[in-house]
Amino acid sequence: MAEFQKKYSPKTYPNLKGLKGISDDLLATHFKLYEGYVNRCNTLTENLSKLGKEGRASGKDPAYAEMTRRLGFEYSGMILHEYYFGNLIPNGQAAPQKGKLTDAIEKSFGGYDTWLADFKAIATMPGVGWAITYQDPTTGWLSSHWINLHQDNHPAGYTPVLVMDAWEHAFIPDYKATDRAKYVDAYFQNIDWAAVEKRLR
Ligand SMILES: [Fe+2]
Repeated sequence: MAEFQKKYSPKTYPNLKGLKGISDDLLATHFKLYEGYVNRCNTLTENLSKLGKEGRASGKDPAYAEMTRRLGFEYSGMILHEYYFGNLIPNGQAAPQKGKLTDAIEKSFGGYDTWLADFKAIATMPGVGWAITYQDPTTGWLSSHWINLHQDNHPAGYTPVLVMDAWEHAFIPDYKATDRAKYVDAYFQNIDWAAVEKRLR
């Protein structure tokens, strides 16, 4: 039998410093939280594999079932943070340059401002989760969605294009819990639009 090789390593973002309105201290804490997701993905995967080898791969085995239920939360927590950090950059432009991304936005929303207002409305909804613009791989159209926690409400098979962490740890203590809208405005000062555009088909 081949040796078990699935082990994730936390990605590092050494250049992600000096963002506008999102402090380096807050980001350092956020990277630590992200590493926790990577570590738990590895632990869950290893433990499930071990139980499988022991012949305990059963939905009726409480340990196996509970760890399996947890996978979506931990995996999505890991992956979404990589999308989020990956679409931030110091000295970001306020808006994307005209190109593939703006074309897709216009075709899907009728205009950049309409897309932005929709995204900001989603991003300031009560709750902990994520605001994400996805691309439908079949039509190429974009749509934006609210994700509960990390795992609930993803349109199956769609590609995340622009990802914003809306959990409170993403903006507290830089902002008050009641000031998420200020964080959303700061977020849009730090977007790596080229990285966002690269995610499009
Ligand atoms: Fe986060």
